Amino acid sequence: MIEKKRLTNGFEYIEIENSYAKAKIALQGAHLFYYKNNASSSPLMWTSNSTFFEEGKAIRGGVPICFPWFGKLKEKPELPQHGFARVSPWEVVAQEEKEDGSTVVRLELINNKKHFSVWGYLFKLQLEIVVAKSLEMRLMIENLDVKSFEISTAFHSYFSVSDVTRVEIKGLENRRYYDALDGKLYEQKMKFQVDKEIDRVYFNSKNPLDLMDTHRTITLTSKGSNSLVVWNPWVEKSHQMKDMCDDGYKNMLCLETGNVMEDRVIVEPKKKHLLELMVQEH
Ligand code: BG6
Repeated sequence: MIEKKRLTNGFEYIEIENSYAKAKIALQGAHLFYYKNNASSSPLMWTSNSTFFEEGKAIRGGVPICFPWFGKLKEKPELPQHGFARVSPWEVVAQEEKEDGSTVVRLELINNKKHFSVWGYLFKLQLEIVVAKSLEMRLMIENLDVKSFEISTAFHSYFSVSDVTRVEIKGLENRRYYDALDGKLYEQKMKFQVDKEIDRVYFNSKNPLDLMDTHRTITLTSKGSNSLVVWNPWVEKSHQMKDMCDDGYKNMLCLETGNVMEDRVIVEPKKKHLLELMVQEH
């Protein structure tokens, strides 16, 4: 089943249900904000109980698409964090229920005057989401301009965890990382643990990567990306965020696969960059 739905305030989304999973994708941002495998007792993605589902406001949870910049744009720090793709209205350009029981939807965002006025390039984005035994996402970034552009992008995935202090990430051992909280570079020597605010960019993280929870392991396999952002706002920051329920940080961990900092990508005119993510639960 693929159904277009809207909330009472008009906020539109697509609901998908098949023999593998149930998913909800907002047209704003092509934002997957709910995903639960039928065989699993809890959703794969975490979404805040206090999130806004409103025009122009990013959803707190699921998988925001960060484009064309990640974090703040250096040259124009006054612009919204993580770019405009996550708050722009996308269009559904294809949808299919396949014979093997999987469902595929493709959403598109083409630059308009508003985008052009803040980021002066012509581009096209297509996001393909496959709801199957595993969740697959493919973001195709196409340069329609006559000049090359530089991008930093990410699938800013919020994973649902039973207790963030008890999870482990396999694949960060001995990896170099940038700690955004003090602006310094480190190497992951100790076991990865969340017992405070975490905001880091890992370079050359292992692929696939395992997020090991007490009741399940979530495996992320990515292509077209080399960096991984790990984020948890912890107590104080959560209090400061209007769309973050106070205890929410305990049950989420962001593992954001993409091209961040030194890993950002230059896309030449008429060329494409493909960012892919496959998430398996076992
Ligand atoms: C993470 C950043 O990717 O996103 C953090 O590393 C940031 O610094 C977080 O706080 C949330 O960003 P936003 O814009 O969704 O509040």
